[in-house]
Amino acid sequence: MNRKVTVIGSGNVGATAARSIADKELADVVILDILDGVPQGKGLDILEACPVEGSDARVLGTNDYVDTADSDIVVITAGLARKPGMSRDDLLAKNHAIIKGVTEQVMKHSPNCIIIPVTNPLDAMAQVVYRVSELPRERVIGMAGVLDSARMRAFIAQELNVSVENIHAFVLGGHGDAMVPLPRYSTVAGIPITELIDAERIDSIVQRTAHGGAEIVKLLGTGSAYYAPGSAVVEMVESVLKDKKKILPCSVFLQGEYGIHDLFVGVPCKLGANGLDEIMEITLTDEETVALNKSAEAVRELVQLIDV
Ligand code: APR
Repeated sequence: MNRKVTVIGSGNVGATAARSIADKELADVVILDILDGVPQGKGLDILEACPVEGSDARVLGTNDYVDTADSDIVVITAGLARKPGMSRDDLLAKNHAIIKGVTEQVMKHSPNCIIIPVTNPLDAMAQVVYRVSELPRERVIGMAGVLDSARMRAFIAQELNVSVENIHAFVLGGHGDAMVPLPRYSTVAGIPITELIDAERIDSIVQRTAHGGAEIVKLLGTGSAYYAPGSAVVEMVESVLKDKKKILPCSVFLQGEYGIHDLFVGVPCKLGANGLDEIMEITLTDEETVALNKSAEAVRELVQLIDV
């Protein structure tokens, strides 16, 4: 296989994404962490699953960035989770330092890669990767919207008892409480959900989507979601490696699109071999525009705190 994907961080999200990329034989996989033995152990375990899965992907766990050289895509999941007593700003500062260091190392060994940041707070961390890597904006694509819209699709499917495959859902904005699920553009077999579900039920789906991460954190007790985030990463990786040109909501550096300047915010993007192919600008109502701007402002506050 001549494609290579590196996953930085062998925690729950990183290992889940690495496993799925290897299972689907999308690329050879390197998984890197600062913990000694953990990426090696998980990498070997994933490699040993490949014969059963029928995949010839080569999988390697490592602590050494030399092994990541010439990656086509680097997925960054390294970071700290928020612990009791830690403020959002503490987390922001700690993950800023981690993401900066990781990006510097990644760039030394894969100067032409496409980076998919996953670490939270997502949009701000994507902006750190973009500034530190100095890659063109087409090559830094944050994972958030695919996850948020997958959650919304699952809830719509449950509500209507229809196949998830019939459902498209659109979620714009930053990956936080102020994200903007768009019912008008969310469809079941082409029919907007606004024609199929009453306003009150739609509002509850929208609220559940916006707090989807918190719902899982509460249930798990420790840690946060990783199966759906892992799957969302893989859909983006696949669209790039196969040049599928899928339209997926991703966090990218806006330069005037949707009236937003110099900020990572989630918008519909076409993903292909060169990363971000195109940003799709859809028409928003005044209300939707206000909600998107509010969500973008929440991202801008974080970005200003760390001055990136
Ligand atoms: N370099 C490499 N790996 C690091 C570094 C670093 N500088 N700092 C921390 N890590 C590793 C940790 O050792 C750990 O194995 O990152 C991993 C993070 O794993 P988890 O704590 O299991 O977190 P996970 O659930 O995978 O989430 C990772 O994705 O969805 C987001 O909010 C989530 O920001 C979080 C990230």
